[in-house]
Amino acid sequence: MRKPLIAGNWKLHNTVQQSEQLARDVIEQIGQTEEIEIVIAPVFTALAAVNTICKNSNIQLAAQNCHCIDSGAYTGEVSAPLLADVGCSHVIIGHSERRQYFGETNQFINAKTKAVINTDLTAIICVGETLEQRESGELFDVIASQVKSALADITATQMAQVVLAYEPIWAIGTGKTASSEDAEEVHAYIRGILYGLYGASIADKCRILYGGSVKPNNISELMAEDDIDGALVGGASLSADDFAAIVRYKKTLKISPQ
Ligand code: PGA
Repeated sequence: MRKPLIAGNWKLHNTVQQSEQLARDVIEQIGQTEEIEIVIAPVFTALAAVNTICKNSNIQLAAQNCHCIDSGAYTGEVSAPLLADVGCSHVIIGHSERRQYFGETNQFINAKTKAVINTDLTAIICVGETLEQRESGELFDVIASQVKSALADITATQMAQVVLAYEPIWAIGTGKTASSEDAEEVHAYIRGILYGLYGASIADKCRILYGGSVKPNNISELMAEDDIDGALVGGASLSADDFAAIVRYKKTLKISPQ
């Protein structure tokens, strides 16, 4: 049984003060939830402050990116050990906005994944196709190459520190969600790749999140699919009410406020 994971990616939004307020509001609604893992990813500059607020809750902290080298002459970068130092337990790696706007390659994403794992943090590795790739029939090749190269040299034991996120690029911030059947098709395909690489017991344990315009009104349908184990939420995670409603996607779950 895979524990669902809902992660909020706040992207480039919110000052330290606004991030603190949003974290407080999230904790007030869902801060002691145990049946679902909840992760929030504020901007770098707010991580330490948000960590202080999250300390006595079950909300975990993620960074949105990191460098692949721990320290040195890399002006402007932040490394995995420094993220651990401010309380992060997770790092989002290879988000499509990083691939698209900052030229991140599959190889670079693999190096970052290793840095995160070697720091004892969990990597949330994002994969996803463009609309052009989907329409030209390249979907499965693109996904296979992104998944396999991100996981190159990652051992079966290290897979306990990996979460995958399928985020079709055409669904991010556009209001277009992949239908739950379309999403499930890709999730099942990704799990099949994990079977091939690591065998059934690892493949069955690995969480695969869906991301791309996840909202309170589409989460239940997505989560009803066998291979969808959670969500990476962008826009809707900037509202504590919407994010909490997404976490409460199933009436029978015990969702506890702080
Ligand atoms: P969205 O973003 O929910 O705003 O579509 C998802 C993401 O980029 O992780």
